[in-house]
Amino acid sequence: MPKDKQLIVFNWKENPATSREADRLFEALAKATGNKARKNIEIVACPPFIYLQELSKKLMIARAHFSLGAQDVFWEDIGAYTGEVGSAMLRGIGKNVQYVIIGHSERRRFLGETDVTVNKKIKAALSAGLHVILCVGEPKEVRKQGIAAARQYIKNQLKKDLQGLDSRLRGNDKKNGDNKKESLIIAYEPIWAIGTGKNADPDDARDMTIFIKKETRQFSDVPVLYGGSVSSSTVADYLCYTEINGVLVGGASLRGEEIVKMVRNVL
Ligand code: PGA
Repeated sequence: MPKDKQLIVFNWKENPATSREADRLFEALAKATGNKARKNIEIVACPPFIYLQELSKKLMIARAHFSLGAQDVFWEDIGAYTGEVGSAMLRGIGKNVQYVIIGHSERRRFLGETDVTVNKKIKAALSAGLHVILCVGEPKEVRKQGIAAARQYIKNQLKKDLQGLDSRLRGNDKKNGDNKKESLIIAYEPIWAIGTGKNADPDDARDMTIFIKKETRQFSDVPVLYGGSVSSSTVADYLCYTEINGVLVGGASLRGEEIVKMVRNVL
């Protein structure tokens, strides 16, 4: 991710139900982004695995200016791991698939994702040359105890999730090469703000972004996004801060009109 750009990541989660609807969302996004590359904003759509291949082809034909990502990845590239999809498979789809979300709170909550598995997945995805969007964020019970508790919670997550990663991100890992140092992106997603309509106060989100940057300073300039009930009417309130390097959008990314408005409000 180029340093001077802000990122808008659309996380479709387990949506939509049919490939026809996925096509419609694609069209809305293509219409919103247009054929001109934007200097200031980069847009990424993360559909379910099953739509990635087809949408990647469509993207090539449409020459629209956004890229694609997956919502998860397994840490092994190939083998007897029923149901899993590896980084090499994602890379094999083509150069449009550049990103992967890892450690989303819904996976941690419903699918047994732990800091240990998140850590393994990050290592595998970075080694394959994918841009990793690592999600961290505190639950409501922790937030109720105050900001210091929330920070401590996130600090712990970062420590465990990023364990053993420093040489890769500094770019001095021979196998991975220097260009890997910009591949890690962190999304601050307070769990109480996800899908609730209660987006975090932009000033608070900015403060947490700064905190996360400090906690990850050994990796030098990790971009930090905010996620949690971002809509077309609030997106600019986050992106107006240079410390917030973008947003991760769930619910609003499934409504064509909202996508167009959101992209237009920031381009
Ligand atoms: P939301 O989801 O925008 O629906 O709150 C954000 C996310 O889970 O990434």
